[in-house]
Order: sequence, then structure tokens, then C-alpha cells
Amino acid sequence: MPIKHIETQRLRIRSFQPNDWQAVYDYTSDPAVMMYIPEGPFTPEQAKAFVAENMGEQARFVAVLLNTDDMLVGHMEFHPWFAPQTYEIGWIFNRACHGQGYATEAAVALLQYGFETLRLHRMIATSQPENVASCRVMEKLGMRREAHFQKCIRRPDNQWWDEYFYAVLEEEWFKANDT
Ligand SMILES: CC(C)(COP(=O)(O)OP(=O)(O)OC[C@H]1O[C@@H](n2cnc3c(N)ncnc32)[C@H](O)[C@@H]1OP(=O)(O)O)[C@@H](O)C(=O)NCCC(=O)NCCS
Repeated sequence: MPIKHIETQRLRIRSFQPNDWQAVYDYTSDPAVMMYIPEGPFTPEQAKAFVAENMGEQARFVAVLLNTDDMLVGHMEFHPWFAPQTYEIGWIFNRACHGQGYATEAAVALLQYGFETLRLHRMIATSQPENVASCRVMEKLGMRREAHFQKCIRRPDNQWWDEYFYAVLEEEWFKANDT
């Protein structure tokens, strides 16, 4: 089910619109932001294609904007995973906005939407062990590390990367959030 609109204290999460591509390109072209993304930095054409692919019913990513000025500062991955009532969640933000809790705030809203509205059973997320910020977000969300896959991701430069696998179950979410 595509997300129409979710509002948090500081953020607005919505589906992508055609003219979002320039803001997406601003951060997806940044090598530091894309360091742990297997595709690497985007070209303008890749940013346009990414936005176009994520506008319809099959969208796997949603845009995140600041409430104050409507600036698009990042996007969240949010889509069904390979098991019943299970979704994957992920995050990429503009470097100018890192360290302000935005990824965690957006992820909390999507976990809440997933468990309380979509009635999901389990949500998962992955990260390279070296990606300390991303691992920290998963831990702040109350996700548990379930696996450490060794040399499982092939990079364009032919290096192999490890991957941590995290998850949170509906009963863990409801217990932690007392709802
Ligand atoms: C991962 C990412 C989305 C986090 O976004 P963010 O809005 O800065 O995240 P938050 O502010 O909610 O939380 C980040 C946490 O990591 C911590 N952190 C960041 N860099 C760190 C480092 N080098 N060492 C230790 N902790 C670090 C922050 O201090 C914060 O934890 P705290 O609240 O306990 O202080 C952002 O860094 C990003 O866009 N990275 C590039 C894209 C990416 O790698 N995405 C994930 C792919 S798996």
C-alpha cells in the first residue's frame, strides 16, 4: 500500500513527485552519502529514474521533507520483504542534515505505521558493519541484530562487503511503545 502522507514533529513523509529528482540528486550524487549503497553515487539520469520508479503503486521508497520549509532532505525504504507481513525499512539523508535525529524520527513513524496500520508482524533492516550511523539508528529503534553475513554483497569495485541484519517483531514494538 503506497504511503500518501505521514507527518511527524519535524518531518513529512510522502510519495515521490516528478520534480523531486533534483533534491534527490543533490544527496544521491554525494559519494560520502552513497559510500555504503551498492549502486554508488547517482547520475542525474539515475536520480530521475529512481523518482519515476517510486511514484506509483509499486513504490519501494518514500520522500522525507522538513515541515518548516518543505525541503526534501532524504528518503526512506519501505516495502514488503520476502515473508508474510514483513517489510524492509531503510534510510538515506542529505549530509547537511545528518546527526539531527531525522532518520530515527522518520523510521519511528514508519514502524508505527507498519505495525499499527498495516498490522505487520516483523520489520527488518540491514547495514554494513562499518556504517556506524546506520547501525546506531537500528539500535535506537529497538531493532535486534539477528545475523552477520560475511562477504555477501558484491561492490562495483569487486570488493565483498559483510552485512548486519536487524529485525523487530510486532510484540517487541508494542511492548516498547506501550500502545
Ligand atoms: C545513516 C543515516 C541515514 C543516519 O541519518 P541521521 O539522520 O544522521 O540519523 P540519526 O541522527 O537519527 O542517528 C544517527 C546516530 O548515529 C550516530 N553516529 C553518526 N555517525 C557516527 C560515528 N561515526 N560514530 C558513532 N556514532 C555515529 C549519531 O551520533 C546518532 O546517534 P545518537 O542519537 O545516539 O547520538 C545517515 O548517516 C546517512 O544518510 N548515511 C548515508 C546513507 C546510508 O549509509 N544509509 C544507510 C544504508 S544501510
